[in-house]
Amino acid sequence: MNTSQGSETNKKFETESKVEVLQTLEHKVKELMESHIAKRKLWYSSDFLPADEKNDENQEKAIIKLRERTRGIGDEARVAIGLNLLTEEGLPHFHRIIAKHLGDDSFWAKWNNMWTAEEDRHGGVLRDYARDSRLFNFSRLEQMQYVYQEKGFNPDWDKDPYRVFVYTTLQERATQFSHKNTGSFIGDSEPLINGILSSIAADEAKHFTFYRNVFKEILEIDPNRALESALAIMPAIDMPGISMPNFREMADVIRRVNIYGPRDYKIIVEEALKFWNIALLDKLNDVGRAAQEKLMNIPARLEKVAEYIEQRTTKKTFSFDLIYNRILVME
Ligand SMILES: [Fe+2]
Ligand SMILES: [Fe+2]
Repeated sequence: MNTSQGSETNKKFETESKVEVLQTLEHKVKELMESHIAKRKLWYSSDFLPADEKNDENQEKAIIKLRERTRGIGDEARVAIGLNLLTEEGLPHFHRIIAKHLGDDSFWAKWNNMWTAEEDRHGGVLRDYARDSRLFNFSRLEQMQYVYQEKGFNPDWDKDPYRVFVYTTLQERATQFSHKNTGSFIGDSEPLINGILSSIAADEAKHFTFYRNVFKEILEIDPNRALESALAIMPAIDMPGISMPNFREMADVIRRVNIYGPRDYKIIVEEALKFWNIALLDKLNDVGRAAQEKLMNIPARLEKVAEYIEQRTTKKTFSFDLIYNRILVME
């Protein structure tokens, strides 16, 4: 943290609207975007699953072989891929929330459009994979996606642009964990999905870097209000799919197989508090100091939540029409 920013500077920013504060960071967004572009690797669904008019015989045979391999994918992994896929297909909700605060004539808008284009490949490749490999009751998947998009996504934090950046930081990291761990869970028995999930996870890691750096900049110039916003988000985030059918049960399955759960969230929060240097921020007003203290207590609370959930986890039976209601019995 640049402590040379005095409380006078902070006061100046506190009188402006948050959107105006973000406008002053536009030059920084340009820099962060340029560094993102220099590091990113653009890939497309066709790199993994060619689907051209001129596909040769070997490419067509590869699809048949893929279907044979995917028969070996267990139901827990299918649920995980389904949840990851549907989460990605919630992209219109996020494009809208970000666009609402950042306008459409700035580097912020350029970022939002580029980010959306990058993200759209995630839902696209997973959908192509699921369709080509015959992984699900596909029409059920389509209905779930429809319901999720039609319901919209209107969390409290969408009214506060600072909260948006806290949320997107945590959410990008959480999806990175979830994709990467789903790939590891499936292992080498199906290398194609493993490669796809690793590539998506690598994108999420870069998005996470962008958003956490943006919020670090906000903290530097408007720390008190930034801390208040962080406190509104960090105790618990609902993953965006909360409004999709079967979301809680699917999330419970992926927690039980250690793909993503409260312990991962605790790691993500600890890492963010450290990166943003929350514990050492000074020159705060009373509101900022109170938020700082509460933020630093969140990991201990998350530990208790994780223990509580683990203690009351008992054997449970699940079934999802996405996988033809086959019964999953899970410890
Ligand atoms: Fe994504
Ligand atoms: Fe992302």
